[in-house]
Amino acid sequence: MNDLFPEPLPDGITLLPRQADAVALLPLIDAIAAMSPPRHLTVPGGGSMSVAMTNCGMLGWVSDRSGYRYDRIDPLTGRPWPAMPAAFTELAAGAAAQAGFAGFMPDACLINSYAPGARMGLHQDRDERDFAWPIVSVSLGLDAVFLIGGTRRADPTRALVLADGAVLVFGGPARRMYHGVRPLKAGHHPLLGARRLNLTFRKAG
Ligand code: SIN
Ligand code: FE2
Repeated sequence: MNDLFPEPLPDGITLLPRQADAVALLPLIDAIAAMSPPRHLTVPGGGSMSVAMTNCGMLGWVSDRSGYRYDRIDPLTGRPWPAMPAAFTELAAGAAAQAGFAGFMPDACLINSYAPGARMGLHQDRDERDFAWPIVSVSLGLDAVFLIGGTRRADPTRALVLADGAVLVFGGPARRMYHGVRPLKAGHHPLLGARRLNLTFRKAG
């Protein structure tokens, strides 16, 4: 099914292909981006991320020289993040339920925008309060190569292609796995052009 990942997926990881519809989601993402524009956040070391980020929901993930955190206020606009559209919540809750996490109610959705060359280094998602809830990740546009490691940064990684519409749920034993995204290859998606968008839903607070 997935050339780069013929073995069964590690425990706690569920891949739902063609689960999300870019045609339906893109106008909602554009409306959020018009209120809280995607931006290249500064990391504590002083560099800036190659992925452009914004958020919707009660809480948004931000990074600056002082570290990483969730904040109710968008530091760029000084206003609360745009509300999470009902269609987002339903998509995330539905995917989580299919993966065995009934009752998932995300309060944060990080929206990542990748142009060709943009990447995300190996990291753990660990700024959320309760790791009992999974992360639900929705991929739109160009294919990405997602890297899945173990619970230590030095653990070997395996690669999984996340195509347009794929929803990946990682929870339980996979919740603390290191993960990242290889530099996006150039390409053209009929709706998104030379871009990949990724939505990650979290129960952060
Ligand atoms: C993330 O780990 O926050 C992003 C993952 C992705 O872009 O697929
Ligand atoms: Fe992550």
